[in-house]
Amino acid sequence: MADTPVVPTHLGIIMDGNGRWAQKRSLPRTAGHLEGLKALKRVIREAADQGIGYITFYVFSTENWKRSEQEVSYLMHLLVSKLHGELAFYQKYGIRILVRGKIDALPVQVQQAIEQTVDATRNNTTITAILAINYGGRDEICRAVNDFIAQNPGKSISEDALCSAMPLPQIPCVDMIVRSANEKRLSNFLLWDSAYAELAFYEKLWPDWDASDVQQICEEYRQRVRKFGGVQ
Ligand code: FPP
Repeated sequence: MADTPVVPTHLGIIMDGNGRWAQKRSLPRTAGHLEGLKALKRVIREAADQGIGYITFYVFSTENWKRSEQEVSYLMHLLVSKLHGELAFYQKYGIRILVRGKIDALPVQVQQAIEQTVDATRNNTTITAILAINYGGRDEICRAVNDFIAQNPGKSISEDALCSAMPLPQIPCVDMIVRSANEKRLSNFLLWDSAYAELAFYEKLWPDWDASDVQQICEEYRQRVRKFGGVQ
């Protein structure tokens, strides 16, 4: 059995608590999302410093369309204005941006901002940040299975075949998933990949996260013994 590496190779983050952060300050929920973006930048930088290779952020779920039109359109506006708008930041710190989710169902301006950002950062090598946008774990599995069936009519699917049919097959499975704001559930995040992921939940609201939270996660990860169904 392999020893648990010093830091997760791939960390998944469910950013929660933006609304509560804003509410505590009598601000609109959108202010929490803007502050959440600042936290995301602090966290990526420290993750890179810690040697984490891949970090996936749950930015917008397939269920988030249920929110008010104002909140949804603010989040879409944030993606259009800040995704490509933060290019200097990604280039400075060697951050490669990838995305995961039902991208073709997003507003066309968001799709363009994504395409430009992914393209402009493709050669960066310090850390890969994967943004899960219009993302649902169940939706992703269904789409991968349907793709497989279309390409292999009459064949039954195996675990290996499904792994290859999933998006970003070259990215290692997530080693650890963490969630902020004291909620303890996965909410349809990385359902296939999380089969053996370590889980950790923290009280702090997402907009308050900084380098110390990434250090705490790495410390927590070092304490875990990963057995993958075997014995120690
Ligand atoms: C969950 O908190 C947060 C979200 C649904 C949005 C997260 C998005 C960002 C941090 C912006 C990312 C932007 C770019 C450009 C990558 P919540 O609203 O559910 O909080 P609550 O549970 O306290 O209401």
